Amino acid sequence: MPYKTGIFQGSICNLDVLNNQTIRLISHLFRRLLLKSLFVTGTDTDVGKTYITAGLAVTLRKIGIDLGIMKPFAAGTAQKKGYKSEDVEILSNAAQVNDPEDLVNPQFFPIPASPYTAWKNLKTKPKINPVISGFKKLSKLHEMLLVEGMGGIMTPILKDYFVTDLIKEMKIPAIIVTRAKIGTVNHTVMTVKMCEKYKIPIKGIIINNFDSDGYKTKELTRDLKNLTNVPILGSIPFIEDMSDSAMYKIFKKNLNIKLILK
Ligand SMILES: Nc1ncnc2c1ncn2[C@@H]1O[C@H](COP(=O)(O)OP(=O)(O)OP(=O)(O)O)[C@@H](O)[C@H]1O
Ligand SMILES: [Mg+2]
Repeated sequence: MPYKTGIFQGSICNLDVLNNQTIRLISHLFRRLLLKSLFVTGTDTDVGKTYITAGLAVTLRKIGIDLGIMKPFAAGTAQKKGYKSEDVEILSNAAQVNDPEDLVNPQFFPIPASPYTAWKNLKTKPKINPVISGFKKLSKLHEMLLVEGMGGIMTPILKDYFVTDLIKEMKIPAIIVTRAKIGTVNHTVMTVKMCEKYKIPIKGIIINNFDSDGYKTKELTRDLKNLTNVPILGSIPFIEDMSDSAMYKIFKKNLNIKLILK
């Protein structure tokens, strides 16, 4: 029965291709199930969320993860070239992605303020829908996303909608970036308590140890661990060289990557 053989042969050929494609698809879906996107929040603005997210992006990319980045709302002076937000520029370079600006940074406010305050000053209301749809689209394009927050955990976006609400909608765990400067314990405990109140799972705390004064890493790690019961994922020293290889070296050495990916 020649026609059957033809079909059979054809299907064998297709099956071979399909098998490879299926294997790739299954491994991709499997990795996606295992790899959870993360929301990088911090105890305050300027605490180092962008630097830490960039270091994480370099490290996770170098160990073979197809990584995307997102900064839902950004504010400040717009860059003349490339992405308006400098944070988005830094993060895209670190992750080596070139996703459309309307997905990675759906809203940019040209003044340094929270989205809520920018709304009141500029009369541009923050829009949540494009942020959530951008997040969903990027989640389909990459195995894992690193989302950088704005300011701290209670930065207001709308009157009754804070960064906490955004994380809840994205349904992803948070990493809390904190600094070593005196006062950090208060800020970190408050941030953890708010996450707990909103039932946001916390992957862990990263101490960004870039201040010349401040607590010794050992005692800060001990106290934050005892006070919050949240894992301390590591402590990052002052970064002098933002090159790929330097960032990879620092982050691989000083962070518990296994725990971050667990
Ligand atoms: N580990 C570090 N080593 C050296 N400098 C650092 C480090 N972390 C932060 N900085 C410095 O602090 C500044 C603020 O850090 P960064 O932009 O990462 O903060 P942020 O939390 O992302 O702020 P924002 O709320 O504006 O997004 C950086 O421009 C850099 O000068
Ligand atoms: Mg930033």
